[in-house]
Amino acid sequence: MSDLSFDEALAAVDERLSEESREHCARVSETAGRIADVYDVDVEAARLAGVLHDWDRDTSADELLVRAAAAGVDVTEEDRLVPYLLHSRVGAAELAERFPGLDESVLEAVATHTLGALTMTPVAKIVYVADMLEPVRSYSGVEELRDAVGTCTLDELFRRAYTRSLVRVLERRRHIHRTTVETWNRHVAGERA
Ligand SMILES: [Fe+2]
Ligand SMILES: [Fe+2]
Repeated sequence: MSDLSFDEALAAVDERLSEESREHCARVSETAGRIADVYDVDVEAARLAGVLHDWDRDTSADELLVRAAAAGVDVTEEDRLVPYLLHSRVGAAELAERFPGLDESVLEAVATHTLGALTMTPVAKIVYVADMLEPVRSYSGVEELRDAVGTCTLDELFRRAYTRSLVRVLERRRHIHRTTVETWNRHVAGERA
């Protein structure tokens, strides 16, 4: 149970982020709460993590590197190739500092929403999926993912979402971060629906 209420988190996000990001965060929060309810996961934590997940979404790449250093976030050479992806880990570090009572599962979900991680709680998987399914998202396969909510396990829903996400990375010929490879091998590879 976090000391930070949803309304306090929403107010902090409203103050910090652009209108576009605020609205995205509100939609991810709503979607995460709905998915958590379907899978009997802590709805409050999912909504809170959803609204906070993009705390550093509007922060420039250069500024993310500066803030990562200030917050003690480990930055590899590879992270420097794709600094935008740091918004998850920097956001989590900054949130931990600003709201000391924030639940660990909420921080972890924020930290892992871009790349995933070797260890992911149900709340983290839900936020990852909700970020991909929120109502404004539009890409080939999104409707199938939306329809899958509640028809398969949460782990399988995550596997399908992660697969879709990696396919998009490949189609765009983007850099594949080693954390993506680790997450894929740990949570997705070899698992069948
Ligand atoms: Fe994000
Ligand atoms: Fe997001």
